[in-house]
Amino acid sequence: MLDGCGRTIDYLRLSVTDLCNYRCRYCMPAEGVCKRPHADILSVEELVEIGQAAVACGVKKIRLTGGEPLVRRGILSICRGLRAIPGLEELCLTTNGSLLPELAKPLREAGVDRLNISLDTLQPERFANMTRSGTLSDVLDGIHAAEAVGFTDLKLDTVLIGGFNDDEVGGFLQLTMEHPWEVRFIELMPMGPCAEWETSCFLSVDTILKRYSTLQVIEPNGVARRYHLPGAKGTVGLISPLSHDFCGQCRRIRVTADGKLKGCLHSREELPLRGLHGKDLEDAIRRGILQKPQRHHLAEGPSDTPRTMNQIGG
Ligand code: 5AD
Ligand code: SF4
Repeated sequence: MLDGCGRTIDYLRLSVTDLCNYRCRYCMPAEGVCKRPHADILSVEELVEIGQAAVACGVKKIRLTGGEPLVRRGILSICRGLRAIPGLEELCLTTNGSLLPELAKPLREAGVDRLNISLDTLQPERFANMTRSGTLSDVLDGIHAAEAVGFTDLKLDTVLIGGFNDDEVGGFLQLTMEHPWEVRFIELMPMGPCAEWETSCFLSVDTILKRYSTLQVIEPNGVARRYHLPGAKGTVGLISPLSHDFCGQCRRIRVTADGKLKGCLHSREELPLRGLHGKDLEDAIRRGILQKPQRHHLAEGPSDTPRTMNQIGG
């Protein structure tokens, strides 16, 4: 359906947990999040019911997010339940990849169509430092496990951070020469712990275009401007929420793991969906779509949302 600004809304990002097995410095506080009572988080049945109502409102694509969606107990039942909704065209999932060695195959069997895997550095020590607990080889094994069970069109999401990984752009571009993956560079957004970071950490992805002049423009896809290197098997995506906001083309709504509909990642406004069923649930989702904010205000200052990224879902 159309929102209040005339944008088609057909994409739901559904968070299934705010927990994560990593503690990336820009996303989470070191101590993690306090584990909430089980009952605060949407049940498998509620998640599927919200998915059904969203599809009745015109949603065609659902992406499962977190925290880290693969730490959620019942993730496979959630995937199977959503995949069975008539009219849903695509079920995707964004993961840090660490649990894919075990879960890639069952996720494929549960009907997940596509995966995005977050990967901010190709250096093991940096990876351990940024995630405060992770092991790079787990994620690399996860990527290969995903390919081995038939996930194609893999996307690797890299948050570009000045002074952390901007010297690794060449290494990430090289991956696209060898693999049919899309490597996407995402501008760091000032929210949660990184809202206080120095301005030098926030780089425009356009710096990549300036440094690598052989990148050739290809068709954009969703919010990503896309490029490829001559002879490459894969592609490169640039996602620039700060330097070129894409609010005018935004097709998404979000539901947090505690059941709040958010029209915009960066807005304070939330609409509670818990306890609603059938037509009441659909009406609430329609209301949320109509109230979706026109744009975010990151160019003027930090995000307005009091939530951290793991509490919304990327
Ligand atoms: N800015 C940009 N991307 C972020 N992510 C988490 N926090 C931020 C931020 N402040 C990314 C993660 C992952 C996805 C879920 O969201 O790196 O790729
Ligand atoms: Fe976990 Fe992703 Fe946040 Fe890192 S960025 S702590 S992997 S949710």
